[in-house]
Amino acid sequence: MSKAISDTGSTPQKDMQDIPTSSKANKGGLEGIVAATTAISKVEGTAGRLIYRGYTIHDLARTTSFEEIVHLLWFGHLPNQRELSELHAHFAAERTLPAEVLQVIQVLPAQTEPMDVLRTAVSAWGALSIKGKPTVEQAIALTARFPLILAAFHSLRTGKAILESRPELSHAANYLYLLTGQEPSQEHVQGLNSYLVLLADHGMNASTFTARVVASTESDIVSSIVAALGALKGPLHGGAPSKVQDMLHAIGSVDNAEPWLRSAMARGERLMGFGHRVYKTEDPRAEELREMARVADPQGFMLSRRVEELALALLEEQKPGRRLYTNVEYYSAALMHSVGLPGDLFTPTFAVSRVGGWTAHVLEQINNNRLIRPDADYTGPNEQQFVPLSAR
Ligand SMILES: CC(C)(COP(=O)(O)OP(=O)(O)OC[C@H]1O[C@@H](n2cnc3c(N)ncnc32)[C@H](O)[C@@H]1OP(=O)(O)O)[C@@H](O)C(=O)NCCC(=O)NCCS
Repeated sequence: MSKAISDTGSTPQKDMQDIPTSSKANKGGLEGIVAATTAISKVEGTAGRLIYRGYTIHDLARTTSFEEIVHLLWFGHLPNQRELSELHAHFAAERTLPAEVLQVIQVLPAQTEPMDVLRTAVSAWGALSIKGKPTVEQAIALTARFPLILAAFHSLRTGKAILESRPELSHAANYLYLLTGQEPSQEHVQGLNSYLVLLADHGMNASTFTARVVASTESDIVSSIVAALGALKGPLHGGAPSKVQDMLHAIGSVDNAEPWLRSAMARGERLMGFGHRVYKTEDPRAEELREMARVADPQGFMLSRRVEELALALLEEQKPGRRLYTNVEYYSAALMHSVGLPGDLFTPTFAVSRVGGWTAHVLEQINNNRLIRPDADYTGPNEQQFVPLSAR
């Protein structure tokens, strides 16, 4: 196994348009604030470009495996054949859940949101298994177990037996096998693998920032990941794709698209799968996922594409100058549906991918750590006269 990188690497080239300035701080939501130095991934909002350690996402999306990508994120370089085989062996060796974690999953009612199951089971696993400073071995152990937790819960709630992982299968293939009990098709494995590659890291998004804040306190890696799962769950971040699917179901037909979208916007609702804090053009991951969704499900794609076109036109009409474009979540929903995942596993499957990025950020943070502790502008009163309880 290669040695984990020991520093944050060379200073990435700066794209002047994408350098945030503190003058944007008053917009709230920490917009434009540089919260960390990272060599892991870079999001160029105006160019619509995403790179993992210098490689454009367009070069990686269909040609690499999720295992190659996590190697790149953790160790700083794409693996050679030997390094990849070693990583496969590590993943295979880690694909088990302790009986206590299975008991925790069993105790949760079948209606529990899978994201809550994942957060709870990861925390339970950490309580049993993780001590001390974060290591790359812990990152591998955590990443290997995410699909097992979700598949175990899915098997229990559908009355099926929990299956053993198959060491010869890739991460994506093993996940699909554990969920369905069947040999997954090549198309499904490729589709899910590309999704996992595309979502593995994305600059200083809310959940990654959360993971780094916890790591900066010198807490353990599982605490960082449990906190990140909490942040990912929200509909403004990773909770959007199942809501995109709900929206497409509710719309139902091309004819119903415009009236449905207009009335949603008239009610002040946000259209899920559109808009982004950083991208001021199309999200490059959406471009990749759109093409994959088109190939995977040509029939369903017709509705998704028409709704997308109408939504973009409406957003332009009603929010002129806002520059709201399709984001990654819109076609994530279509792709995950096409590989057979149920809607409530969309966000947890995002986590199956992003845990690679989160753990890479935790390792990077602790290699060059300073406690993350921002300031706040206090807006309360300054000098109140104290009155004891008996006199209030
Ligand atoms: C992702 C998101 C939270 C980023 O938002 P942000 O940078 O914080 O932008 P703001 O929330 O400040 O929104 C700016 C304006 O655009 C509007 N807007 C942004 N996204 C919108 C959307 N999807 N639908 C309708 N209006 C939207 C806001 O209402 C706001 O308009 P206003 O100033 O007239 O009130 C936002 O675009 C959103 O809620 N999208 C839908 C959820 C989603 O797809 N999430 C997945 C993100 S990958």
